[in-house]
Amino acid sequence: MRFDPWNPDFVAYPYGAYAELRREAPVSYFEPTGQWLISRHADVNALLRDRRLGRSYLHVATHEEFGRPEEPAFQEPFWRVTRAGMLDVEPPVHTRLRRLVSKAFTPRMVESLRPRVRAIAEGLVEAFVEKGGGDLIAEVAEPLPVTVIAEMLGVPEADRHLLRPWSADICQMYELNPSVESQHVAANAAAEFAAYLADLARARAVRPGDDLISALAAIEELTEDELIGTCVLLLNAGHEATVNVTGNGWWSLFRNPAELVRLREDRSLLPTAVEELMRWDTPLQMFERWVLEDIEVHGVEIPRGAEVALLFGSANRDETVFADPDRLDVGRPDNPHISFGAGIHFCLGAPLARIELIESFGALLERAPKLELVSEPEWKPGYVIRGLKSLDLTTG
Ligand code: HEM
Repeated sequence: MRFDPWNPDFVAYPYGAYAELRREAPVSYFEPTGQWLISRHADVNALLRDRRLGRSYLHVATHEEFGRPEEPAFQEPFWRVTRAGMLDVEPPVHTRLRRLVSKAFTPRMVESLRPRVRAIAEGLVEAFVEKGGGDLIAEVAEPLPVTVIAEMLGVPEADRHLLRPWSADICQMYELNPSVESQHVAANAAAEFAAYLADLARARAVRPGDDLISALAAIEELTEDELIGTCVLLLNAGHEATVNVTGNGWWSLFRNPAELVRLREDRSLLPTAVEELMRWDTPLQMFERWVLEDIEVHGVEIPRGAEVALLFGSANRDETVFADPDRLDVGRPDNPHISFGAGIHFCLGAPLARIELIESFGALLERAPKLELVSEPEWKPGYVIRGLKSLDLTTG
């Protein structure tokens, strides 16, 4: 099968197509999206660190200069929120925004959250076991990271049910060639989310709490758009991928029962297992970059104004980097996977994500030793943000 991100069979198993790309076409032009696909680990890694590329081009050029159409007016709420967060800006704005929040996400800071993360994970797993199982995604995978990031930011408990739908709607824009309907859904969600956060930030500016929104609301140099963009980014990025690593990860273990047994018998393997699950079935399959200055990759000239699609899922199965790459090895000793990115946009939440995953997998291994699959899960249609619709399990 060829690279075909709208084909459910490809979404279910993109790794065969990737192997062919890595072997035969490490750089190839993909007409339907107008992007250059980059499939090898060394190239993905190098381009993520290459300052001749950027997540945006608007700091150096206009849409017209880059040969891109003006965005329709209805999309404005989406772009306003997106372009005010650190992920979609480049230095010097990126450096300033990242510095303002990075203190809250250092390994030491997030390590202090571990007892709370563990307590949330254990509570969710206990309730799951009491019911005899259910949909792991809805019952454990989603509520854990949503609760953690909402508590960090200070989103009141009564409002937390709003976060997941807003995030899912906004994320529709990150898929390749989103439909006009998806674009409207994303723009509406961004407008609602921004209005909600603006109210919350104003309230916290008057009566601060011990939370990140209050801390950000007190920073004078942060504009209101930047404050909102930062909170939306933290709330969305702070749970989307973690949900999918949990679901995809358990599905990977059920497809590799010997590795599940190995992990059950030796839980000291949890840290390497979590890294391996992120590598073996990559939750974020692809990230894009704009080419800001002409580059050349394997003799192919890629001009300024072009867009590259960095295939993380492919890089993570590169046989020149990973021994026996298609094998799931929960004890894999050397694992330079690219799932958290590289370079200046390297995932700010990686230390937190690791703690969440280790605690939730750990709690399930300990408290649900007879966890079993009830039925084969289905993949959601999304390719870029790739996850399961549900994962029905019984705890025996
Ligand atoms: C397993 C879970 C996660 C994965 C796989 C993941 C992956 C990534 C990747 C690949 C990027 C870089 C994108 C690019 O270069 O274009 C990124 C950026 C980011 N992630 Fe994560 N992430 C995860 C969890 C989290 C969590 C829990 C947070 C919590 C706050 C978070 C916050 C962020 C932020 C703020 C950025 C933007 C950093 C910047 O632009 O400097 N992520 N993430």
